[in-house]
Amino acid sequence: MKNIVILISGGGSNMAAIVQAAQQQQWERRFGARVAAVISNKAEAEGLAYAKSQDISTAVLDHKAYASREDFDAALTQVIDGYATPAHQPWVVLAGFMRILTPGFVAHYAGRLVNIHPSLLPAFAGLNTHRRAIEAGCQFAGATVHQVTADLDHGPILAQAAVPVLPSDTPEALAARVLSQEHRIYPQAIANLLSK
Ligand code: GRF
Repeated sequence: MKNIVILISGGGSNMAAIVQAAQQQQWERRFGARVAAVISNKAEAEGLAYAKSQDISTAVLDHKAYASREDFDAALTQVIDGYATPAHQPWVVLAGFMRILTPGFVAHYAGRLVNIHPSLLPAFAGLNTHRRAIEAGCQFAGATVHQVTADLDHGPILAQAAVPVLPSDTPEALAARVLSQEHRIYPQAIANLLSK
């Protein structure tokens, strides 16, 4: 069994889309994979309630309780690696996890660590992607699923979706349009990886 551990910080709508896809597309039967745990760095992350409702184990690791980024990542690694199975190390899916990870963490999960970013990378790495895309006069925006490397919001691209930027768009309106595409491409990209 390949255990997937999803890291969130907030709403967890991408996490929920992945959990639903895993159920509907029978990832367990087809790929020998299941969403084993959802971990948040924030106790108030709304996504935790959904994970619990689906009988997925949850954990909260408050980054503020750790003296350094390295200490937090070491604790996180220990929890995630508790989901290793005899045949497979866990897969780690970042889904709105608002923490920069240390190079050591990234190296530890190399090839098994993916992220979704709400822009058409390599454009607009970092925060406030929708406002920046509107301000730059972009006619298209979108989302990117990528392998995580030590270089923030870079790493090999696994999937992308583009949406139009409308003249009337606010960052919020554009974010909602992009998010609905995220829910489509993220589960698809993960299924694609698991099938290899
Ligand atoms: C998504 O837009 C994701 O790309 C970004 O943060 C948002 C998280 O949304 N990194 P959710 O928690 O999955 O609802």
